Amino acid sequence: MITTRYYGQFGGAYLPEILVATFDQLVTAFEAAKNDPTFWQEYQNVMSTYSCRPTPLTFAENLTRHFGGARIYIKREDLNHTGAHKANNVMGQGLLVKRMGKTRVIAETGAGQHGVATATMAARFGFRCTIYMGEVDVWRQRPNVFWMERLGARVIPVKEGTRILKDAINEAFRDWVSNMDDTHYVLGTACGPHPYPEMVAYLQSIIGKEARAQVLEIEGRLPTRVYACVGGGSNAMGIFSGFFDDPVELVGVEAGGDGLDTGRHASRLASRDGSIGVAQGYKTCFLQNTDGQMRETHSVAAGLDYVGVSPILASMKESGRVRFEAATDKEVLEAAALTIRKEGLIPALESAHAFAQAFKEAPNMSSDDLIIINQSGRGDKDIFTIADAFEDPEWRKFIIKKAEGYRA
Ligand SMILES: Cc1ncc(COP(=O)(O)O)c(C=O)c1O
Repeated sequence: MITTRYYGQFGGAYLPEILVATFDQLVTAFEAAKNDPTFWQEYQNVMSTYSCRPTPLTFAENLTRHFGGARIYIKREDLNHTGAHKANNVMGQGLLVKRMGKTRVIAETGAGQHGVATATMAARFGFRCTIYMGEVDVWRQRPNVFWMERLGARVIPVKEGTRILKDAINEAFRDWVSNMDDTHYVLGTACGPHPYPEMVAYLQSIIGKEARAQVLEIEGRLPTRVYACVGGGSNAMGIFSGFFDDPVELVGVEAGGDGLDTGRHASRLASRDGSIGVAQGYKTCFLQNTDGQMRETHSVAAGLDYVGVSPILASMKESGRVRFEAATDKEVLEAAALTIRKEGLIPALESAHAFAQAFKEAPNMSSDDLIIINQSGRGDKDIFTIADAFEDPEWRKFIIKKAEGYRA
């Protein structure tokens, strides 16, 4: 019998019969790990010796001065191995795979960060690895594809549908149905059927645990607000979970794309375009048409370009525990540019959504207010998108010369 879980009306595990036993095995392994204190110790040990935990909480002195309002702190998930919070989830799931005695991992990826992190984990633990990635994302994130392949993963470009993240997830599930005995699906975010939302949020909760202890140590008080970008919702769940029981306002920032009124965005909770549905094995708010077909989404940040959202966050929208906003591509690029120039930090375009919203609000807050922005990843992977957006002529010449096979 399948064990499942709902968050308000969201969540569940809507599975084909053939996957039920595999999910039950995963639920059992996850519950056992969660109740075994040695699992978290082993996890923390891996993250502090192989990744870069605890990641620092950086005071953004120049941005604070620039806006003249709230004191701005940045949680530095970009300093994780492979450059994003994705490492927290994959290394934890890797430890579970070892416990389950499986030898192959598969994953979907949008921005490529989760794919690189999974391929790294597979190389480290000695698992075979296949990564599914929409053809459009392969094009947008070629450097990450290069690294996944060097790390020994097979990267399969998905040509179905709109050829982005949701299509990659569908293909990964198709693979899993045929290879359940030796394969674990390392889902990259707090979405999908139970236990994934809870399991990924649990592994990412290390961000919030650290951030809470760090801000108390540095400032001796809690922040007024915490900002995180929301794709599937894993980095947001990770940092928010440290403050759920505190009087702290939690702000999730979705991809506003070209603007919420244009329809070209990926905002399921902050826009009026999201509606409740069941797809990819779980119930949440999706961007879908009236026939329940998934709509096309758009964002400058591949990692936020997804039709669904964590069922846990959907329920927190309903309860009012988390406020949801959207930042447009233009606002995001401006926020990234300002952060680079003022602080010498290069946020991923996904993370820059959280910065953009915080920058709208910080000037209206008082110097007694503290805010924390989760920098979920570093922006090196976005060099092509950012350079195009800034219309840097020298960069364009360089790309053309490279393509022509130019050698000095
Ligand atoms: C750096 C970065 N931040 C955020 C996200 C969005 O994912 P999530 O909402 O699960 O944190 C991604 C997804 O690829 C990412 O690469």
